Order: sequence, then C-alpha cells, then structure tokens
Amino acid sequence: MKVISAWFACALMAFAPLAFAQKFEGLAKTPQMGWNSWNKFGCDVGEKLIRETADAMVSSGMKDAGYRYVNIDDCWHGERDARGFIHPNQAHFPSGMKALADYVHSKGLKLGIYSDAGWKTCGGKPGSRGYEYQDALTYAEWGIDYLKYDWCNTEGLKAEGAYLTMREALRKAGRPVLFSLCEWGDNKPWDWAKDVGHSWRTTGDIYNCFDCVYDHGTWKSWGVLQILDKQDGLRVHAGPDHWNDADMMEVGNGMSVNQDRAHFSIWAMLASPLIAGNDLRTMSKETLAILTNQAVISVNQDPLGVQSFRHATRDGVEFWFKPLADGAWAFMALNRHTDAKKISFDWNGEKVSDDLSKRTLATPAGYTLRDLWKNAPSGTTRKALAAEIPGHDVLVLKLSPR
Ligand code: GLA
Repeated sequence: MKVISAWFACALMAFAPLAFAQKFEGLAKTPQMGWNSWNKFGCDVGEKLIRETADAMVSSGMKDAGYRYVNIDDCWHGERDARGFIHPNQAHFPSGMKALADYVHSKGLKLGIYSDAGWKTCGGKPGSRGYEYQDALTYAEWGIDYLKYDWCNTEGLKAEGAYLTMREALRKAGRPVLFSLCEWGDNKPWDWAKDVGHSWRTTGDIYNCFDCVYDHGTWKSWGVLQILDKQDGLRVHAGPDHWNDADMMEVGNGMSVNQDRAHFSIWAMLASPLIAGNDLRTMSKETLAILTNQAVISVNQDPLGVQSFRHATRDGVEFWFKPLADGAWAFMALNRHTDAKKISFDWNGEKVSDDLSKRTLATPAGYTLRDLWKNAPSGTTRKALAAEIPGHDVLVLKLSPR
C-alpha cells in the first residue's frame, strides 16, 4: 500500500506542473478586437486619453461592431516601490489604474496593459524581468484583462521560457488575462506559443505606409504589404485561441482610403487580431466605416478560425481565399500596384483547394456572391468574375453555397 501511495505521490508530482501549466483558455476563440495607444500616441499616454477612447469606442459604434479591449501600450509606468511593486506614472494616471479599469469596465469594455519580458521596456521603462509574479498580481488587483508582453532588453533570455514564466504568473494571479505575445517572430513563437498565449506577433513593427520599409538603423519597420508577405507559411499555426498577430492597425492614421480598406481587408483575411491604432475621438466617417464594416469583420471573426491562403498572383494582383463556416468562402483580390488593374477570375476553371481545411471550392450549384465593401449582391459563380480594382485596393467577396 505504502509503495503504491509513494508511487502515486511521485506520479502526481511528475504531472502536477503539466496540470497547472495552462493559459486561460477560451479568451480568444475568434481574434481579439480592440484599440491600442502606441501607433498614434507613442509614449504620450494618460488616463484622460484612455477614458476618452473608451467613451469614443462606445459612442462611435465600435463597441457594437465588436471592439472590446482598450489597451495602454508602453510608457504608462512610474517606478517600482521599495518592495518591488510597479506603480503608474502619477502625473499621467493620477486616479490610478484600478479606477481607470473600473471606468472602462463600466462601459462594458476591457482594459489592457503592456509590459516587457526584459529588464526594461522598449521605451526604457521598468520591465517585468524578475518581477513577473508581482506584476501579474498587481495587474489582477487593478482589474486588467489583457497583457501585451514585449521583447526588448532581453539579452541572455530564452523566449519560450520567458513567456512561460509570465503565463504562469498570470495564471497564479488568478484573473483571466488575454496574453498577447510581442516577440516579433524572432524565435518562431508559432512553433511553441499555442499553449502559452492567445496571439503572437509575427513581425517587427508596422510602419504607417502601404508599401515601404522604414530603416531605423538597428531595426526596421514594415509597411502593410511587407507584413503580409512575412505571413507566408504561418497559417498552419493559427486557429481559435492562438492567432498570428500582424500588428496593430494603422487604419485612419494617414494612408489613403483605398489603402486603409485594403489594409483592413488583409488583416481580416489573415484572421489577425483587429486592434485599431488611430485616434477614435476624432476619426473621419471613412475611417469609422472601414473599422466597423460588419461583413468584413465577420470574415475575421468567422468561427472556423482558418487563416486565408494566397491562391495565385497574376500581374501584381493577388487572389486570396479564406474558408468560412457553413461551407462559405471569403475571396480577396488585392491590387499591389498603384494604378488600377482589370482582373478576371473563372470560378469554374480554377482549382481552388485547401490542404489545411480540406475544403475545395466547388459545389454543383455554385455560390452566390456578395461584395463586402459595396455591401451588395454581386451575381454568382456561374459567370467568370470581371472587375477593375483601383491601385492599392481590394475586391472582397463572400461566396455562399446556393
Ligand atoms: C515595440 C513593440 C511595439 C510597441 C513598442 C513600445 O517596438 O513591437 O508594438 O509596443 O515596442 O515601445
């Protein structure tokens, strides 16, 4: 008996770490939607901006469209106290984080925060290295719902271990927190982060342009098309509760309406988290219309959770397909040129099939088509598609089985 119980105790000990080693499941069954301060405001963050952004998320209709998280990025930090606990910058967050979280929650929204696995954040603020459990506890006490966890100043650290430590700390603190890894794809998080977090950045930072690379010297940031190209091969790793994150969006930050429409469509097709990065308080009608296009959002939020694939590229126009629930498909034709292009696509002459979802585009009766930007019916697949797409723009269709 003694032998058996000793064996049992050993077995329990051996399996105990596995049993407890879990992220908070189910927080991102579809890609998370929200807003983040960094792209527009950089280090200029404070409680006034966050409250006003929460207000605008509700009054603009963004909340009704599905956006939930209001995320404070880098530079909210003050100092650590004598016991090592972090405090927000007193001047910028005079009411404290708990009061801010209460306010955001009172609007039916959720509050996100930012930290870094290293000694300092990318903005030079205190990082979580060595303080993971304290920080996780503090975030839980404040009522934080989302943690973006960056990768600056991590010399000597191993990515998987560093992110696992914070996952465990969040778990131990007990408050369900969506864990968004921001490791830029350097250590292939798609290979190991499925059970660590809910999404992982696949690239370095986005740059506010459609087709360019910005060289900062020691690092580069990437335009929309460059980020798209870096997703090649990654779709097999994504799915419900574990998404490839193409970075926060630049919609409304100065690109043309065509480019913003294409940018948003690409993020939807990639099943990337949809995190707006513009000023929600002052956005134009065009920007709001793009960010709240319910039909395109539904492509992103489709419960099947399969990322799209590039079927073909012809004369600089890419043809993408995303299998959707209930036998439907989303189709995107993306014009990478600056000038307009005429396209044609013969639904019945093309072999469109997907190894990942085991789906093939073909039913005897075909599909009806809906143009998701015009929000109008657009014929059927009986006839070959013929269209003209403006420069840096898209045609997005939903194909529904007849
Ligand atoms: C890194 C991240 C960005 C942003 C900044 C903040 O560059 O990738 O998304 O969080 O840090 O300093």
